[in-house]
Amino acid sequence: MDAALIIVMLKVAVVAVTLLLIASLTALARGNYRLHGRINYVFFVLTLAALLGLEMVARLISPRIFLEHFERHGARDALRIHLMFSVPSAVLLIAMLGTGLRRWRNVHIALGLLFLILWTGTFVTGIFYLPHTAAP
Ligand code: HEM
Repeated sequence: MDAALIIVMLKVAVVAVTLLLIASLTALARGNYRLHGRINYVFFVLTLAALLGLEMVARLISPRIFLEHFERHGARDALRIHLMFSVPSAVLLIAMLGTGLRRWRNVHIALGLLFLILWTGTFVTGIFYLPHTAAP
């Protein structure tokens, strides 16, 4: 599996789970907390599986191919900046599920705002700045 393909798959996954997140926030705005929680269960599992799983596979199986890909595109900084958003948002995601399930409302909402900022950063830097074509 080459780096460009893995990145394309990750981008598709990020767009798909972002649609889920939007659906869960829509449910929240309508006062349907239960549906918000349900959708976010799926969001949680898919996000961690896709992002952590695929990124780990990329790093364990072919870390050199992956690094080389970014080097050839001159996109090492883009990757570093992307990781500055995506790694904390993955950690925060675990706290989001925990505080949501326990109904720690204020903490959950406060962390939720931070999570939305980090997720927006993850989305923008991931979709628009990471090169997903074959290296020149
Ligand atoms: C991103 C912004 C988010 C905001 C502003 C937000 C806000 C809320 C609010 C106001 C509640 C109702 C709390 C209560 O019952 O008093 C709630 C419930 C919940 N949230 Fe979130 N949330 C967000 C994201 C997430 C995420 C990312 C997850 C999971 C990964 C999550 C999981 C849950 C769960 C499991 C519940 C409990 C649902 C139930 O009552 O059955 N939330 N959230």
